Amino acid sequence: MKLILASNNKDKLREFKEILEPLGFDIRSQREEGINIEAEETGETFFENSAIKAQAVYDIAHCPVIADDSGLEVDYLGGEPGVYSARYGGEDVDDIGRCYLVLDRLKGVPDEKRTARFVAVISYIDENGKLSQFKGTIEGRIGYDRRGEHGFGYDPIFMVGDRSTAEISPEEKNKISHRGKALMQLKEFLEMK
Ligand code: IMP
Repeated sequence: MKLILASNNKDKLREFKEILEPLGFDIRSQREEGINIEAEETGETFFENSAIKAQAVYDIAHCPVIADDSGLEVDYLGGEPGVYSARYGGEDVDDIGRCYLVLDRLKGVPDEKRTARFVAVISYIDENGKLSQFKGTIEGRIGYDRRGEHGFGYDPIFMVGDRSTAEISPEEKNKISHRGKALMQLKEFLEMK
């Protein structure tokens, strides 16, 4: 089954392909389908933004579309960066800078108050335009430095046990991650259709 991923994020595309292609899905990026848009994320929740992204591509493609809105919630920061994870600190800050921004804001904060989670909401719009959504989370803690070379975004500072999600292999991350869990729900949903 062909699914268009409504995203221009190459790291998300890689993870979607790693997780869904062994299950028999043919994942195409919106770019591969000639759809060069970037929907404005005007929502206040992962659910809203995920639906906005999927809908924008469905309105052009009129065939099954998936989208992911995801981010990091840090309890000590009242849930920040949350839906602003990709833009935290402003447009000029890159992934490394955003990691240091979170680390700076948690300076002196003890281990037990460094709890955090990754959240992903996957939207699926079927060929008739019907929306379904699936949420996955993974609990962890913010570390004290950047660690590991895998992954992307906040992976180097997100600790699960004594390793960051940038220190574990992509296969291991996909089994336990927010995105992996949401995509397993999508898979079960599609199998029941
Ligand atoms: P958006 O869903 O495009 O708004 O962006 C989500 C942002 O959250 C990414 O740019 C990353 O900064 C962060 N993020 C989401 N998922 C992950 C992950 O699996 N690892 C690390 N960072 C993530």
